[in-house]
Amino acid sequence: MKGILWTDDDYESIMRIFGARTGLAVRPAQRESTQLGIAKAMRRTGMSDLSAYAALLAYDVDALDNLIVELTVGETYFFRESSQFEGIRREILPEILKRKGRSHRVKIWSAACASGEEPYSLAMLCAEEGLASQCEILATDISSEALAKARQATYRDWSLRGDAGTATKKYLRFDNGRYFVDDRIRRLVRFEFLNLAMDVYPSYVTSTEAMDLILCRNVLIYFGRATIREVAERLFACLADGGWLITASGDPPLGDYAPFETVVTNFGVFYRRPQASETAPHSLADAKQSVRPTHDAQASTEIDASAPPERDADSPTKFNRTVGSQLDSAKKALARGDYARAVELSELYSHDPAACIVQVKALANLHTEEAIQKCTLFTARHPLSAELHYLHAVLLMELNLDVDAVHAAQRAVFLDRSLAIAHFLLGSILQRRGSLEGAKRAFRNARELAAARPPDEIVPLSEHETARLLTKAAENHLRVIEAAIGTTS
Ligand SMILES: C[S@@+](CC[C@H](N)C(=O)[O-])C[C@H]1O[C@@H](n2cnc3c(N)ncnc32)[C@H](O)[C@@H]1O
Repeated sequence: MKGILWTDDDYESIMRIFGARTGLAVRPAQRESTQLGIAKAMRRTGMSDLSAYAALLAYDVDALDNLIVELTVGETYFFRESSQFEGIRREILPEILKRKGRSHRVKIWSAACASGEEPYSLAMLCAEEGLASQCEILATDISSEALAKARQATYRDWSLRGDAGTATKKYLRFDNGRYFVDDRIRRLVRFEFLNLAMDVYPSYVTSTEAMDLILCRNVLIYFGRATIREVAERLFACLADGGWLITASGDPPLGDYAPFETVVTNFGVFYRRPQASETAPHSLADAKQSVRPTHDAQASTEIDASAPPERDADSPTKFNRTVGSQLDSAKKALARGDYARAVELSELYSHDPAACIVQVKALANLHTEEAIQKCTLFTARHPLSAELHYLHAVLLMELNLDVDAVHAAQRAVFLDRSLAIAHFLLGSILQRRGSLEGAKRAFRNARELAAARPPDEIVPLSEHETARLLTKAAENHLRVIEAAIGTTS
């Protein structure tokens, strides 16, 4: 390596920063090739001093990106491990639709998607199964370079080298030696930056909650043991009850790291998050709950003893206590994932908005359509509950009922203008509908309200989102919208 004199300290400090920012671990035996990679990445940043480079690496996204490209293999191709895709087609999708209903909106996440062949393969498969209008495919990676390629959706023959390459061609247009992915497939996939080593998922803000299926393949092999554990725990928490996780056949087994059920199929071994009734609660918060947060303080104070559903012979004070403890039990059932019991315990008290909130959250985990029906009823009964309108908006959005979702989110922010997360939700729905000016206003409100709170505080109506994360997410959306407005105006 011309011009670079390595010391152990230099090498270790660069690797420490790289490891802390990416979770990626390099084996001692790879030191020589790693140094070569670092030297190449350094050259691209125009630097030659190792300690200055280490300092840059600690905060600069492009410098980190350059090094990731050098030290990881971004190799991928369409329908890689095609038997796993057959498993998705023949076992997983039918199972999800049977359990959740034929019209269920299927949420899929390709985590570490590289240049996009994996999520586009998923989109092709969903289109073939008649699910194009009801699938939501999120694709994330740590490499901005890979994400830029993925968004371009332009490939060479090499990406079609697998045994399913030919089947892929009907979704590609060939021109001048390159393949272009059809727009009807492209628009099914949303690409976002996400570092799997960071604690930013599950989260409503990164859209990583309540996943029906996650593919996290050929990336875990690069992580150290501690990171594998954290990633496994977080992926588990991102899955909806009964949701599926697929890793590559060469990836480390995850069974020891999170309470996955291992399912052996004719198409390979897959992981599953057991249905709530089959498992003890896990330490990480339930993904569904993160979208449908609880509001404990409200619950115990809003009980309306003047209009009970059934009044027994005892005094109002005792009645209050009974309602309070029933509601407490309902909330506990919700927290441990016993949704049926939570519904049962809360449904006698629909005169009380706090009980309605518990009931809607529990139903949302069982049957989205029924949750919406109940929520429509409850918002009419308690028109001043901002939280009920907010939940209504979340559920309507989930079923793609965007016009109604906008109205519900607008009601929530009208009732409580300080709810940063409701502004954020309104922005997300408006952006999805292409109402960019309205979305911009809503994201600005979300950003300002979140930025005004202590950065580590969990924002109201949310269980996980910190003010810092929400501020950052709103800023990201504003950047995308401003770029889009710039290109259309
Ligand atoms: C070999 S590719 C896997 C592509 C695809 N999943 C497959 O199996 O064909 C590995 C990808 O992991 C990404 N990666 C590495 N570290 C990551 C991290 N901490 N968070 C997210 N992605 C990461 C790399 O940028 C690269 O695109």
